[in-house]
Amino acid sequence: MRILVTGATGFLGSHTALALQKAGHTVLGLGRRWQQVPQLVRAGIEPITADLRERDAVIAACAGCDLVVHSGALSAPWGSRSDFQAINVDGTAHVLAGCAAHNIGRLVFISSPSVLSNGRDQLDLVDTAPYPARPISLYSASKQQAEQLVLAHPTPSVMLRPKAIFGEGDQALLPRIIAAARAGRLRQFGAGQNLVDLTYVENVVHAIELALTAPAALGKAYTITNAEHPQLWAVIRRVLAELGVQSQLRPMPLPVALLMARIMESISAVTKREPLLTRYSVLALARSQTHSIVAAQHDLGYQPQISLELGIQRTIAALKQPTKVD
Ligand SMILES: NC(=O)c1ccc[n+]([C@@H]2O[C@H](COP(=O)([O-])OP(=O)(O)OC[C@H]3O[C@@H](n4cnc5c(N)ncnc54)[C@H](OP(=O)(O)O)[C@@H]3O)[C@@H](O)[C@H]2O)c1
Repeated sequence: MRILVTGATGFLGSHTALALQKAGHTVLGLGRRWQQVPQLVRAGIEPITADLRERDAVIAACAGCDLVVHSGALSAPWGSRSDFQAINVDGTAHVLAGCAAHNIGRLVFISSPSVLSNGRDQLDLVDTAPYPARPISLYSASKQQAEQLVLAHPTPSVMLRPKAIFGEGDQALLPRIIAAARAGRLRQFGAGQNLVDLTYVENVVHAIELALTAPAALGKAYTITNAEHPQLWAVIRRVLAELGVQSQLRPMPLPVALLMARIMESISAVTKREPLLTRYSVLALARSQTHSIVAAQHDLGYQPQISLELGIQRTIAALKQPTKVD
């Protein structure tokens, strides 16, 4: 198969592109910052430098492909409404236009379980749960809109919602937490007992590979997790301890953290610089969020291949490595 992977220069996209290439497919990657991932080009992935906001370039990238994995997105707790719209919503529309123009057999769209987040504790959420009355962030709103575009489009598609991806090459989830702890800024928001599903990156890649072919999955959304429900702050403490990061993680009541985040967001609205804290990040760290993956198990045949424990061990080992210079 000839497969286009958008977001190939990013965390999940680069793992996906390499795995598909290893499985014997011809892989084209779409992204902008190819200097970040020289290993992909060395592995034989065809780099396409394009912006998801450029409709014609995205349509052209789909030419000659059989399948598309759309992983590219502005995946961030903070950003402007116009950027989320242009990259995540319009960008997905451009990918869909490319799929239509070039008769793509199947699109796997990478969405986010945050489309279902309502800012409260949510346990054992099912994929068919309705969107909350108000999306929890601009990012989540853009993913909701993108999902609706994908659902309404005639291209055969499967939507995956991987929850809190971690692993080698992640620049966001754990690295941001570790950086905050190193700077002495990290607090434990709330009581610290909250359960949050995490997903090791190779398990998400496995789900993508299944979604590219599973017959029963078309037109549906599947949450992907490690199917374990760890206490988030226990995982954070363990990672920090193993990395030798001294951090007391003093508890901060949730209302105080939300108020601080609101103030920082207001300041950032003026300065246009990312706030140190957002309400979205506070809630993501303070609330319980666990998901049922029964649908993915049934329709995709998905089972996590790498346990949480092994994934954490590998991630810690990678974080201990000095940064590689290619
Ligand atoms: N990480 C998580 O925990 C998580 C959880 C749920 C869902 N997701 C979803 O999973 C997907 C991958 O996330 P990730 O963690 O791999 O994010 P990431 O590391 O930030 O990668 C994002 C990718 O999107 C590309 N991109 C962003 N803006 C672009 C633009 N304007 N034009 C072209 N490419 C653009 C980036 O390319 P350049 O850097 O080259 O511009 C990069 O390759 C996203 O759709 C995200 O919403 C992630």
